[in-house]
Amino acid sequence: MRRAIGLGVGLALLGLLLPGSLAFKENEFKKCAQTSFCSRNRNVQQGANFEIVPASVTLNTATLTATLMNKQASKHLQLTLTAHADGFVRLLIDESPSVGRYQVPSDILVSGWETRKAAIKEQSRSANGIVLTTGDTKLELGYAPFTLAVSVKGVPALQVNSRNLFNFEHRRPKQDSDPAGYWEETWMGHTDSKPKGPEAMSLDLVFPGFAHVYGIPERATSLSLQATNGNAPYGEPYRLYNLDVFEYLEDHPFGLYGSIPVMLAHKKGLTVGVYWNNAAEMFVDVVKGRGEVGTQWVAESGVVDLFVFTGATGPAVLAAYAKVAGTTALPQLFSLGYHQCRWNYKDEADVKAVDGGFDSHEIPYDVLWLDIEHTNGKRYLTWDSSLFPNPAAMQEDVASRGRKMVTIVDPHVKRDSSYYIFSEAESAGHYVKNKHGSDFDGWCWPGQSSYLDVTSPVVREWWAQQFTTDKYQGSTRHLYIWNDMNEPSVFNGPEITMQKDNLHYGNVEHRDNHNLFGIYYHMGTADGLKLRGSQVDPENGDRPFVLSRAFFSGTQRVGPIWTGDNAAQWSHLKVSVPMLLTLGLTGLPYSGADVGGFFGNPDAELMTRWYQLGIYYPFFRGHAHLETQRREPWLFGPDVTARIRSAIRGRYALLPHIYTLFRAANTSGQPILRPLWFEFPEQEDLYAEDQEFMVGSSMLVVPVTAPSIFTVDVTFPQGARWYDAATGAPVPPKTKTQRVEVSLNGIPVYYRGGSVVPRRERPRRSTAAQLADPYTLVVALDDKGEAEGQLYVDDGRSFAFQRGLYLHRDFKFAANKLTSSKHVEAGVPDGTLTVPTTIERVVFLGLPPSKKGYKAVISDGASGSKHTIALEAGPLSLATAPESTQAQVLRKPDLPVSHDWTVEIVQA
Ligand code: NOJ
Repeated sequence: MRRAIGLGVGLALLGLLLPGSLAFKENEFKKCAQTSFCSRNRNVQQGANFEIVPASVTLNTATLTATLMNKQASKHLQLTLTAHADGFVRLLIDESPSVGRYQVPSDILVSGWETRKAAIKEQSRSANGIVLTTGDTKLELGYAPFTLAVSVKGVPALQVNSRNLFNFEHRRPKQDSDPAGYWEETWMGHTDSKPKGPEAMSLDLVFPGFAHVYGIPERATSLSLQATNGNAPYGEPYRLYNLDVFEYLEDHPFGLYGSIPVMLAHKKGLTVGVYWNNAAEMFVDVVKGRGEVGTQWVAESGVVDLFVFTGATGPAVLAAYAKVAGTTALPQLFSLGYHQCRWNYKDEADVKAVDGGFDSHEIPYDVLWLDIEHTNGKRYLTWDSSLFPNPAAMQEDVASRGRKMVTIVDPHVKRDSSYYIFSEAESAGHYVKNKHGSDFDGWCWPGQSSYLDVTSPVVREWWAQQFTTDKYQGSTRHLYIWNDMNEPSVFNGPEITMQKDNLHYGNVEHRDNHNLFGIYYHMGTADGLKLRGSQVDPENGDRPFVLSRAFFSGTQRVGPIWTGDNAAQWSHLKVSVPMLLTLGLTGLPYSGADVGGFFGNPDAELMTRWYQLGIYYPFFRGHAHLETQRREPWLFGPDVTARIRSAIRGRYALLPHIYTLFRAANTSGQPILRPLWFEFPEQEDLYAEDQEFMVGSSMLVVPVTAPSIFTVDVTFPQGARWYDAATGAPVPPKTKTQRVEVSLNGIPVYYRGGSVVPRRERPRRSTAAQLADPYTLVVALDDKGEAEGQLYVDDGRSFAFQRGLYLHRDFKFAANKLTSSKHVEAGVPDGTLTVPTTIERVVFLGLPPSKKGYKAVISDGASGSKHTIALEAGPLSLATAPESTQAQVLRKPDLPVSHDWTVEIVQA
């Protein structure tokens, strides 16, 4: 229905459907059984046909090569096993390079990882196989059939082909006897011509001794992946194929807008990660039982390029994965504030009113967004001149209050020769081609559209040039970009995307690189903002901010993503947590879900709870469908406004902590939101928990995701002390679960004993207005009376931090002394920035009761001065007024953030 309309009206009407009646059109999307490559490989035991030729096995320092023979077909494949110093091994299986199978281009991964190899030692060799070691890892390669077993310090980690499900379809000439589906396949009137015939692969990966696997986003489902041999809909494998899925369901194995072929498995003492570097359509089955998790991965084309990461815990595995796929680009600070979006803010007056509404209701926000209706007829990078006659002045006005704007720019280009983008790209030959070699013509918002072939570096470079302020008329340096529909969405294409036999740069079939279209478009746009930034500030540049809907491994280096068109339903609020946790576990932590839900109209309670949870989303944006009722935070009555205000202010107060966590994501690939098992890897009862989560390692958040809730049963990970973040009250030691009362004023949040959390408590209108504000440190003590934490500060906007213009402090409390010292990290330039800001409060949680009370003896390492201040009772935070008797507060110590200092706590 949508594709016939093209103007969004039908979509808009569908969006009015009442909650509970979402219309996911399952039949418009293929299942495994309706897909030739999946059905001919799923659960089909071909693996015994594949044998290593013993005489071919050659070991050369860090590389083993061998011939892998498909006995049945008498075909030879090349197997290469390499060990890498960053803590992983790689298994590559391909035909002879002369066959020219597609490999993911090297710019999807970071450069340099291939050269840092680790030695492989041969331990033994027989007629049946070879045993190798690299570091703590043992690799046992079995010859007939081909198997590979990976273990770490004697603990089994992964088995390849132990269930005989491996397969590799070699390229072949067409034969009359070939089964249907090999050379052509038709789906709902679309015929895929498959000029290269069958070329699928099946990987059989067993995680021995594990009960849980995680990852392979994107889909709306649980964190610990359910088995796919269960009841519908979980009788279907998980699918990795970037698609614009209309009105997706909140509990379904179906794949959504982005794909990251990364899976993690965790058991006590060992975490394993696998990454299949392949961008074709993929299906993944998960089967549990017999003390292991078996998985089968089937990809339509490409090669086997499997990375295996092992470590004692999740952080080690993510750090190793980040060496290959890269880390999160450090975002601009403004982009971690609150974003206000809807489809659509109508005109300049509307923009002014909404912007003013935040100020008059004293709610902080940083960015106002414009959806597709702001353009001249969905010609992106243009303006509807009757609705937005003075776009630059509008942006300057918003920016005068320290805020930014975002416009949407989609990859479909309206086929209109009077539109400069269309005609320039057409004459330069920048479009994706159809199978006949002419420009592909698909249907999207503007009607007939061409699609930029962003897989070409030349096209991306041209695209980037469109974002300079002289090219993008009406844009200013305060404007940032939103890339939507980049799966790519094609309303009249098979499964609402492009034909697989379309052709890209280098004569690559769309089948091979489908899942890369989104990241390449995102990259080109981000390069555009970088280019603009280098013109605006030649010395330091401007970090790009581009939100994308489609993604792949590596997107973290480009920018954030959001989880697309969710619904204003409690179930969608709930599933946002495992969805974002999964993205964090697969290297893409900068993500968020539409606050309030995109389709439908949230009531005041859902809205309130969504903001209370949404303030912890790494990317925090309210968004709504065109035909929904207006829902700016002040439209639900004064009580609700007050609650939302307090939630959003809570986000702004936490930004120093969140920004510091982003620095860790930037240097070592660590997630912002973390599942409990990631922080408490020994506690098996937490392995499937996907509602409660940690923000970094120091805060526990308990979402409320159902209406009329008065109490919540909170599970407390063991081995840590916990303090209620609103009152400072300690949770009684060894509490495993506690029923706690909740009001509409907030959701339960706890500080983990042992942490120091930096905050900024003064309510401000935006992040820009917070820049000079002093900090509060919350020091929550553990059982030993100790705590530690960090604060990372830079200019919040440019690349100057890469030259060391940043300040990074370590805070440590031990033996009754809180010290501030410089944070030093290997592999990053030394921080040289100093700032005049001070710490105005230190809140101690968990000091033992003292009749006389406490005082603080403050020594400033830089000035050598010493003075004493008495500690007083709360309040815990400036925003939450009630005095807390549970906290001991050091007021106005005015500790310079840039100095070394010590605060000694002694009895008064
Ligand atoms: C689909 C996106 O997911 C949604 O967020 C956006 O509002 C519409 N496209 C219109 O651009």
